Amino acid sequence: MERLGVVVLAAGLGKRMHSAQAKVLHRLAGKPLLSRVLQAARRLHPDRVVVVVGHQAAEVQRLCGGEGVEFAVQPEQRGTGDAVRAVRPRFHDFHGDILIVCGDTPLLTTGTLNGFIQQHRARKVTLSVLTAYLDDPANYGRVIRTGDGQVDKIVETRDALAAELAVREINTGIYCVRADFLFAALERLQPLNAQGEYYLTDIVAQAVSAGLPTQAVLAADPAEIGGINSREELAIMEKTRQAQLRSHWMAAGVTLEDPETVYIDEDVTIGQDTVIGPNTHLKGKTTIGARCRIDGSAYIENCRIGDEVHILFSVVLSDSELGNHTEVGPFAHLRPGTVLAPRAEIGNFVEVKKSFVGEHTKAKHLAYIGDTEIGRDANIGAGTITCNYDGFRKHRTKIGDRVQVGSDTTLVAPITIHDDVYIATATTVRHDVPAGSLVFNTRREEVREGWTAAKRAKEAEKK
Ligand code: UD1
Ligand code: CA
Repeated sequence: MERLGVVVLAAGLGKRMHSAQAKVLHRLAGKPLLSRVLQAARRLHPDRVVVVVGHQAAEVQRLCGGEGVEFAVQPEQRGTGDAVRAVRPRFHDFHGDILIVCGDTPLLTTGTLNGFIQQHRARKVTLSVLTAYLDDPANYGRVIRTGDGQVDKIVETRDALAAELAVREINTGIYCVRADFLFAALERLQPLNAQGEYYLTDIVAQAVSAGLPTQAVLAADPAEIGGINSREELAIMEKTRQAQLRSHWMAAGVTLEDPETVYIDEDVTIGQDTVIGPNTHLKGKTTIGARCRIDGSAYIENCRIGDEVHILFSVVLSDSELGNHTEVGPFAHLRPGTVLAPRAEIGNFVEVKKSFVGEHTKAKHLAYIGDTEIGRDANIGAGTITCNYDGFRKHRTKIGDRVQVGSDTTLVAPITIHDDVYIATATTVRHDVPAGSLVFNTRREEVREGWTAAKRAKEAEKK
């Protein structure tokens, strides 16, 4: 078997992004651009993967984490050719083909790369470059062919003559090259172009003039090879990727009532026969079970949602777990660390944070539950507040099974309410309550008959 090395170029800042952040760290469908490219490359099972880093090298390296990936530092970004030169020490003992891809082409698939490598090997060429026909060749390098259709060279937009600019065949920035030729050619690059950079693209003309077998391979799907250079291109590609993800999940048996308004991150999973309403955002590592219903206007991030869960209109849920048959919303806020046991119900204007809500327990209206553990079959009345913060520290509240918390209760943590307690309405509970008790605050209720009329008369006199 021929050996295969992969080089991923990811050192550039990406000037046209006008960002303090390295371009490959910008996200598409919630995932850094580079992660997707790297994933496509690793699935080829190459002998070696080297990522060229420069701008924010530490962050980029952290992102690539995991075995099998090596790094080469390009200290100064002097062009794509200079970037590949930086990997040479990693390939000193290597004989075979090197696949070069850019870290800013996130829709690239393993299938396309594989087909490209196969064609390179089948034809036994020294250099293959992957190209595509675009209606609008924009700022891509143009592929110039000779009269007999053979590839001759690649010309960057900024260096191109008018006739060359009219060419619609573009360089995707993906190459497969014999290692020995590659490193020798890189040594011969000259920065004689509009940008004063060492262009990797110049190795094509070098191979041709040396009489080495060279080919341009057309990509079947031009949508896959788009590079991101600006925020606008990022936004356009996000649209493309979102359309793909929606189609994928619909094909897998998920109903999207208004697909264009559902936003799905790369790592989200959704179970069969789940129905998702308009304006739903599924972010991060969210997983959604089967036969769920999400009514709409939901922002759900890093949540684990079981089967047959009903999420009513308008909620924000983050880093939380929703057991099977739970119900949340409308207008609910589950903050990080919330765990809802099966059949728990969280209703309107309820906020829950870092809390466990037991099976079949309900908090249906206007409550704040923080740093709390609640048993099963309990009911949290309207207006209940866990006072978890004393201005210095957070404290925990424990509420047992079958506890009935009356409306307008304040629970001053740290506190434990044992099983089967009844808390009367409008009680401030400051001490632990033993199982089976009733707890209330003594207060006298007074009624002054005729008070309103007397008061109004008095006020009228003042005028
Ligand atoms: C490059 C190609 C162009 C092609 C296009 C495809 C060159 C000269 N041009 O242009 O023909 O059509 O890709 O998308 O190669 N990088 C480094 N170090 C550097 C410069 C760049 O690591 O010194 C990395 C960038 O981080 C990026 C990739 O190389 O991931 C491509 O660089 P970019 O500046 O985007 O090249 P393009 O102008 O798009
Ligand atoms: Ca680019």
